[in-house]
Amino acid sequence: FWLIVGIRRRHPGEPPLENGLIPYLGCALQFGANPLEFLRSRQNKYGHIFTCKIAGKFVHFVTDPFSFNSVMRSGKHFDWQKFHYATSAKAFGHSSIDPTDGKTTENVHETFMRTLQGDALDPLIASMMENLQHTMLQPNTFKVTNKDWVTDGLYAFCYRVMFESGYLTLFGNEFNSKEDPNIARQEAQRALILNALENFKEFDKIFPALVAGLPIHVFKTAHSARENLAKDLMHENLRKRNNISDLITLRMFLNDTLSTLSDMDKAKTHLAVLWASQANTLPATFWSVFHLLRCPRAMKAASEEVHQVLEKASQKIGFDGKYIFLNRQQLDEMPVLDSIIKESMRLSSASLNIRVAKENFALQLDNNESYTIRKDDIVALYPQTIHLDPEVYEDPLTFKYDRYLDENLKPKTNFYLKGRKLKYYYLPFGSGKTKCPGRQFAVHEIKQLLTLLISYFDIEIIDKNTKIPPLDQSRAGLGILQPTHDVDFRYKLKA
Ligand code: HEM
Repeated sequence: FWLIVGIRRRHPGEPPLENGLIPYLGCALQFGANPLEFLRSRQNKYGHIFTCKIAGKFVHFVTDPFSFNSVMRSGKHFDWQKFHYATSAKAFGHSSIDPTDGKTTENVHETFMRTLQGDALDPLIASMMENLQHTMLQPNTFKVTNKDWVTDGLYAFCYRVMFESGYLTLFGNEFNSKEDPNIARQEAQRALILNALENFKEFDKIFPALVAGLPIHVFKTAHSARENLAKDLMHENLRKRNNISDLITLRMFLNDTLSTLSDMDKAKTHLAVLWASQANTLPATFWSVFHLLRCPRAMKAASEEVHQVLEKASQKIGFDGKYIFLNRQQLDEMPVLDSIIKESMRLSSASLNIRVAKENFALQLDNNESYTIRKDDIVALYPQTIHLDPEVYEDPLTFKYDRYLDENLKPKTNFYLKGRKLKYYYLPFGSGKTKCPGRQFAVHEIKQLLTLLISYFDIEIIDKNTKIPPLDQSRAGLGILQPTHDVDFRYKLKA
């Protein structure tokens, strides 16, 4: 009987279990409606760990941040890739890229680490800095001058600038834009990217539904948007482009040499990378700029830092088509911008870190209690419970630009809960083995955008008393949440 209705009974040694009210779905609706509230209430009731049935799966939520370490240390009991491969195939529509399924022998995780971290960051940063300025400063794009204010939606602006610059940085351009001043060709390239942006928006809208398991053909417009995005990323089209990043160049090579994937499947693996590189970065950029503009103290501190760093690097803002450049080390030495970006992401991040148990095993928590986890169960961390815990972050819903700065204005890393120093207090990029391989690049590119905005433009939110737009909770679990509505701002060139 229990098997038929999908209800499971708690065995001795297992965490407290909630089967939920509805067969199969279990607690999915309550969790989905407000994950933070749901988890907090269960944490109060059950303590550091509990099990919820969610959409047919049994998920053990570990809510004690001191026990996150135990989860990281239990790596050998988890299969952290299978779930990711399956989700990627479901959302982007490629056949399996799990090497155990035999269509490729590429270890895509290793490819990411090789091409997004360490020295590989230098060319990415250089290319992004050029593309951002190219995108922001082209007079024919934004009609921006030093005379008249231009009014726009801040989210729309951040989306356009970051999408275009990020796309060009990873996937290259159709010609060398700096050396080819042909306006018609530049406009044609921009039209293609703006078209990709519209397709990306359509596809991204239904992303939560795809992850939840709905088939894409239910969504006609989004389905064709996904296919159009992928078409642009087919190898025959990518080969016509210049300055493609090492990441995509290597992925193309490995797709061609180590896999038997079809041409369209290969393109869809690139679409997965496009999505990963943009979906969180776009809202994270919006929140960073929004909070910066709304907080005069943040703007003052950030402007001082930017001016100092530019001066030290002998970079002068000119309005003569000459671009400024800051290298990785110079960008690394901007703790104020770092703190603003971190604080913005702390407030808007709602990612779910998931691991699947390969076998039955005992998970020992920080308080030495041990719990049995069954094979195929999921162990999940939901870092928002820490990001918004008033004991860890005083006044947790308030933006404090210097929250991550210590008294010497260096990065602050001491955060406490119940008098104990926390190792895990900030996790918008995930944790352990499933941590985002693009995290350094992400922070650098947002920093670059903030630096350029502060340097080139006078910029302000139109309604000084504007409220913070609410977070779109329908994407909770997927990363940085988007605002439910845009905010008007205006800008003009400083020169
Ligand atoms: C994975 C967050 C930007 C590339 C992830 C994961 C998180 C995350 C939480 C892990 C998901 C999981 O637990 O499975 C973010 C945030 C970003 C950002 C908050 C921006 C603010 C980027 C950028 C890139 C990137 C700019 C690339 C250029 C990736 C890739 C993965 C990933 C390739 C999958 C890794 C794998 O499965 O091996 N990201 N990310 N991310 N991210 Fe990011």
